This record gives sequence, structure tokens and C-alpha cells, in this order.
Amino acid sequence: MSKISAAITAVGAYVPEYVLTNQILETMVDTNDEWITSRTGIKERRILKEEGKGTSYLAIKAAQNLIDKKGLDPKNIDLVIVATATPDMKAASTAAFTASNIGAVNAFTFDLDAACSSFLFGMSVAAKYIESGSYKNVLLVGADKMSSLINYKDRTTCIIFGDGAGAVLFQPNEEGLGLQDEYLRSDGSGREFLQATYGGSSFPITPEVLEKGGQYAFQEGQTVFKNAVFNMADSTVKILERNRLTNNDVDWLVAHQANKRIIDATARRIDLEDKKVMMNIHKYGNTTSATLPLLLHDYESQLQKGDNLIFAAFGGGFNWGAIYLKWAYNSLTN
Ligand code: COA
Repeated sequence: MSKISAAITAVGAYVPEYVLTNQILETMVDTNDEWITSRTGIKERRILKEEGKGTSYLAIKAAQNLIDKKGLDPKNIDLVIVATATPDMKAASTAAFTASNIGAVNAFTFDLDAACSSFLFGMSVAAKYIESGSYKNVLLVGADKMSSLINYKDRTTCIIFGDGAGAVLFQPNEEGLGLQDEYLRSDGSGREFLQATYGGSSFPITPEVLEKGGQYAFQEGQTVFKNAVFNMADSTVKILERNRLTNNDVDWLVAHQANKRIIDATARRIDLEDKKVMMNIHKYGNTTSATLPLLLHDYESQLQKGDNLIFAAFGGGFNWGAIYLKWAYNSLTN
């Protein structure tokens, strides 16, 4: 029997309706469209405004979109992983609630948090369950309500992040398609530069913390930027070298959407043409765990069976890496 590899066989997505444009942000903080566009490439982002709705709402919508498109019976899903940095609550996983709401009654579930690399690391985990031969249908959802962590008076963070969700289905493949190789790394000494500190076990929320806005995300933008540029480019080069691929062999770069300048730098490092670089940061900003599956969703109709996709991400922790995956279907015939 040929080796089982883990292929993506369906994609779904959801973004909230409300559009927070650069022009609206100009009325909220001291910023302007020209600065945001030239420094980040972002023009607008989606925000989940409705009271009481959190990350599971986004995850359920994206998963349901995938189920409808694929015609999948949710009872056949074995595992649901929700990659997220903004779970609904601290205990009781967002994945369990998501699975129940989509009718995945035979699945086990868990959340996975590696900040902006959550979905990338989730791909690795999902693939292992398939490659083991024990599971046939693994649903990986990347979902984040980043607006729940953002101080809309802080211009250094509120211009960057948005809300959204994307989902992919991993299934066994015996044609050698799907996940080929991965290079994943973490460095905890980077956590001081990007974090949402308070509310965790080491840093309880107190009235004094709330007074200072300590419940919100904080980043030292330039340090994060430099580390993201170096590590995303470096892991992309490593995964190409390890698999003896040149830029001509790469059909698509699927890079985390945090800043257009970081994505451009990664593409330049491997001398990749712009048309092979998936880009939707202008529409959604940085949706953390949702950026990679949202890219797949937006470009799905252009993907061909056998295409070589290189995924790359960098995020808080620090966590980063690259994955090489061969696309498994032509969307029109799937
Ligand atoms: N509007 C206008 N001016 C702004 C601004 C905004 N929204 N935010 C910062 N500025 C100002 C700064 O105050 C600073 O002014 P000064 O020179 O008078 O002191 C100037 O712009 C440059 O600030 P700097 O922080 O050096 O900007 P930058 O070019 O590094 O861009 C980020 C800031 C946040 C866009 C950029 O650092 C970044 O993208 N970092 C990585 C973010 C990221 O990837 N985060 C998620 C992890 S995956």
C-alpha cells in the first residue's frame, strides 16, 4: 500500500459584515489612510460587532460554509481543531462548542494557540492524525475575534487587526499530494515584544490593570517586524532547499498577512513573482489564525491539482515556520 499523506480537500470561510476602513480609523485615532496603506498595505478590516458573539460564531460560520460546499456529512468528522488566539473563554474549548454546533457529534476536539502561527502549526497537527492512518476527516478551523483584544485608542495596534475565520478539511491521499514537509520553530524569549498579558494565570486582571488598559494586546512593532521578516524568509528558504525546490517550482506563496512589507520581503528573498504571492491583507488586515485559510478561500478557484504551495507564518511567542504542501484538487471539479 502506498504511503498516506494528508491533503486539503475543501475550504470554507467567513468574515463579518462590518467594514472598518482606514477613513473610519482616521476619526478614532491620530492616523491617516496614506500612513496605514504605505506602512502596512491595509485598507480595511472586518469587525464582529454583535454583542455576545465571539470566535466560535466565526468558526461555526466558516466550518458550515465548508460543509455546505463539500457536501460533507458532519457526523463523519473525526476531529475538530480550532486554531485561535482568542478563544471564547479561558476554560471550555471553543472547538468543542464549534463541533457541537455544526453537528460533528462523533468528533473529539481541541483548541490550538500559537498566536499568528496557530493555523500553520494546526496544519502540522491535523496532518499527523491523517498520516497515522487512524483518522479520515480532520477539520482545521482558524478563527480569531482580534477586536476583542484591541484598544481602539492605540493607533499602533488598532490599524492592523481584524476578525475572520477560515476552515480546511484534511483527508488521506495516496497520490502523494498534500503536506510534504514542515519547518516549525518557537523562541519564548520573544514573548515580551508581543503579548496580551493580563487575564492569564501569571497576570491576573485587577482593577488597576483595567485602569491602564492592560487587558489589550501590546506589541513593540519594529522588533516584531524585524523578527517576522527574518524568520519568515529564512524558514521559506530552508523548506525550499530541503525539498530541492527553486522559485520556478513554487506556484503559490501563502504567507501570514501581518504587514505587506513582511510578505514582500519573504517573496523577494526567494525571488518570487508578485502574481504567485497570495495577498488579501488590504481587505482583512491581520486576522491572526484566519489569514492562511482566508487566502486559500480567496484563491481557491485559481488552484490546480499538483500546485506547489509554500505556507509561511510568524507570530507572538515567538512562533514561526514554513510548510510545503501539494494542492490536491481543481476547485471546479471537486
Ligand atoms: N498612524 C500614523 N503614525 C503612526 C501610527 C499610525 N497608526 N503608528 C505609529 N505611528 C508613528 C510612530 O509614532 C512613529 O512616529 P515618530 O517617528 O514620530 O516616533 C512613526 O509612525 C514610525 O513608527 P514605527 O513603529 O517605527 O512604524 P513602523 O514602520 O515600524 O510600522 C507597524 C509600525 C506596527 C505597522 C510595523 O512595525 C509592523 O507591522 N510590525 C509587525 C506587526 C506584526 O506583524 N504584528 C503581528 C504579529 S504577526
